[in-house]
Amino acid sequence: MQTLLTALFLLIFSTYLIPPISALANSCRSYCGNITIDYPFGLPYGCGHPGFRDLLFCMNDILMFHVSSGSYRVMEIDYAYQSLTLHEPHMSTCDTIVLGGTGNGFAVEPWREAYMNPIADNVFMLIGCSAESPLFQGFPEKHLPCRNVSGMGCEEYYGCPAWERSGHKRFGSTHFGSGPPACCGIPFEAIKAINLTRLQCEGYSSAYNLAPLRLDGPGGWSYGIRVKYSVQENDDAFCGSCSATGGTCGYGSDGIRQVCMCGNSNSTSNCDSGNASALTRPLMSKMVGGLLTYILVGLTSKQI
Ligand SMILES: *[C@@H]1O[C@H](CO)[C@@H](O)[C@H](O)[C@H]1NC(C)=O
Ligand SMILES: *[C@@H]1O[C@H](CO)[C@@H](O)[C@H](O)[C@H]1NC(C)=O
Ligand SMILES: *[C@@H]1O[C@H](CO)[C@@H](O)[C@H](O)[C@H]1NC(C)=O
Ligand SMILES: *[C@@H]1O[C@H](CO)[C@@H](O)[C@H](O)[C@H]1NC(C)=O
Ligand SMILES: *[C@@H]1O[C@H](CO)[C@@H](O)[C@H](O)[C@H]1NC(C)=O
Repeated sequence: MQTLLTALFLLIFSTYLIPPISALANSCRSYCGNITIDYPFGLPYGCGHPGFRDLLFCMNDILMFHVSSGSYRVMEIDYAYQSLTLHEPHMSTCDTIVLGGTGNGFAVEPWREAYMNPIADNVFMLIGCSAESPLFQGFPEKHLPCRNVSGMGCEEYYGCPAWERSGHKRFGSTHFGSGPPACCGIPFEAIKAINLTRLQCEGYSSAYNLAPLRLDGPGGWSYGIRVKYSVQENDDAFCGSCSATGGTCGYGSDGIRQVCMCGNSNSTSNCDSGNASALTRPLMSKMVGGLLTYILVGLTSKQI
């Protein structure tokens, strides 16, 4: 009987204690639709890593990503591979070609470049660029910078139904004596910013390849912009140490310094160092430990 009561007491006691601690650890984690927002991202200002501040916004369960080139819808965040997939309505796909220079392309603020970039297996296919485009300048013997990226390129993209529908002529030559090609595929690395205005292009498409295999046909490609994000090693270590002590990783009002949020106080290191409120957690666990020992000792001495 007494064992049962003790077990019951322990159960109640632990359910009272554990939730506040885990709630504290997750105070920045949230959802937008079915997408989990977690470190280094965060929705409220002060949550996540400062390199990703003012980046994500949740509107009617749709997660939006905002950088200097414009807004995109986030289709997926892959925390294991540290990447996310973006889409926007003015991006051409295999089904539709959007012209008129309304597309975002892709460019981030210079200070963000250290934190995110399209992956190497992402092809940007620039459509309807003018012969005066910087894309076609500075290449001797009229050689084009256009190429296939990870098995994807314009030659195959021309096979999409969108091209037939648009009635666009296809050129597909690697030299442009007879005018620029209708489409030119390049990796992000080649030009660092996909700015349709600066490149004088009418539209663009973007596709990425995650499989090690060549994909069969442009109808099977994954359309969207695949962006790899990263956090410097020592910043990652800061967050690891912070969350290991029950804190939540965030940043200060300057938008630069990382802070560890420990319930009702913030720390510049982790929740086990320095401050009065930082002491409450270890103290609490010592109290629980002491109580458990007391109960166990009492239990065994009565049973034997
Ligand atoms: C989220 O929901 C969309 C449909 O609304 C679905 O296509 C997608 O696979 C879902 N993602 C996850 C991770 O469950
Ligand atoms: C801790 O930092 C967060 C994020 O900057 C801020 O919202 C919060 O008010 C701070 N809390 C305290 C107690 O300073
Ligand atoms: C794109 O290029 C135009 C013209 O050079 C410039 O005004 C604009 O600020 C650029 N956009 C971005 C996002 O860099
Ligand atoms: C791209 O790949 C296609 C199909 O494999 C090929 O026909 C074409 O010559 C390649 N283009 C370039 C520029 O390498
Ligand atoms: C202790 O808390 C104060 C204010 O809450 C903060 O300014 C200070 O950085 C903290 N110190 C440490 C070591 O966490």
